[in-house]
Amino acid sequence: MSELYVFNHPLLQHNLSIIRDKSTGNRDFREAISEMAMILCCEATRDLPLERVTVETPIMSANANRLGCNITVVPILRAGLGMVDGFLKLIPTAKVGHIGLYRNEETLEPVYYYRKMPSDIAEGSVFIVDPMLATGGSASAAIELIKSYGCKRIKLVSIISAPEGVALLKKEHPDVDIYTAALDERLNERGYIVPGLGDAGDRIFGTL
Ligand code: PRP
Ligand code: URA
Repeated sequence: MSELYVFNHPLLQHNLSIIRDKSTGNRDFREAISEMAMILCCEATRDLPLERVTVETPIMSANANRLGCNITVVPILRAGLGMVDGFLKLIPTAKVGHIGLYRNEETLEPVYYYRKMPSDIAEGSVFIVDPMLATGGSASAAIELIKSYGCKRIKLVSIISAPEGVALLKKEHPDVDIYTAALDERLNERGYIVPGLGDAGDRIFGTL
């Protein structure tokens, strides 16, 4: 059964207050999303495998540990792009795959328009990033696509999640854990998270 991890680190809470505030402009919104992605990256990567190496310090040989697997970050376009640099700051060697998906405003069903993955994606850990987990339709479709490449180690990292989206992922992808900074109350009649932050993509890219 998949786990839901909700992190309440003070820096996440502080940034949540910024991104929820409708008076926050694009620049501050983007910056807060990026910082939150970095903190969530720390949490979501706690169990990455390490391999033992020996390094020469200026004094003598020492045992050390290095990351022992490929890492791919996969943003769901567009809003997921806002979380990529937070991950790459901490894992500069990570590769980046892209999934283009948007929600049909009427049906709320995800619509595909783009995909591009590293050829060795199945060999390592995959972190799908998207600030909003609402109905869960987009995340579920993205996970389905990533699984079609043969990936076994997949995690979903979101900033704000709705109970409806969490329930859908638990049902459709019980092998995928969810890492998030907030579990909000519910969705409204238009499929927006309540209280949420509005439309994440529009607020990141200034397309309101
Ligand atoms: C938003 C968000 C998720 C999706 C979540 O993207 O970034 O991808 O909605 O909703 P769901 O859980 O109900 O599927 P949107 O469709 O607005 O596209 P955008 O990122 O291009 O703005
Ligand atoms: N997508 C968003 O950007 N915000 C929501 O609240 C739900 C889906």
